[in-house]
Amino acid sequence: MLNPITHRWILHNEMQTLDWGRRFADFVEPAMVVSLYGDLGAGKTTLTRGVLEGLGYSGRVKSPTYPILETYSLARLYFYHFDFYRICDKNELEDSGFRENFGGLGVCFVEWPEKAQDWLPSVDIKININILDNQRELIVTALSKKGVLCLEKWQKLGW
Ligand SMILES: Nc1ncnc2c1ncn2[C@@H]1O[C@H](COP(=O)(O)OP(=O)(O)OP(=O)(O)O)[C@@H](O)[C@H]1O
Ligand SMILES: [Mg+2]
Repeated sequence: MLNPITHRWILHNEMQTLDWGRRFADFVEPAMVVSLYGDLGAGKTTLTRGVLEGLGYSGRVKSPTYPILETYSLARLYFYHFDFYRICDKNELEDSGFRENFGGLGVCFVEWPEKAQDWLPSVDIKININILDNQRELIVTALSKKGVLCLEKWQKLGW
């Protein structure tokens, strides 16, 4: 039986969102799927940028609207950043290359996973970003054994 872990953070500004991502990067593992929920402008891309920086990437992080997938070949792993905001049907999703990349060894971060409905393979960690005036509430939930182990490791080291 999975013992779910949920944890909440308040991030006061963009720097804190980036910093959260940089720290989370240490616990990201190959083949992990992370879904990012939140309204337009909540901070999904900002947080992903922080994770990429934490993984050693120093280039520009584009919002992957067109195309809906940006791929990064990093020292430790392949990183796939999806944004399904504009997905309207399953054919568009198939064209995005998601099937080739999900389930492989790369780590997948997915913005607007709700647009992929139930076509999305199983998610390890779900991140909800809620807009609270000029700060953000982050709610992170582990949904798989791998996700639980990841958050437990971070928790033991003191978030
Ligand atoms: N903790 C925070 N507090 C306040 N503002 C923040 C915080 N983190 C990020 N922001 C701001 O919120 C915006 C987030 O934009 P970003 O492109 O990351 O959102 P997004 O969720 O990816 O949106 P979209 O759904 O359009 O892709 C930026 O303007 C950023 O400066
Ligand atoms: Mg975005």
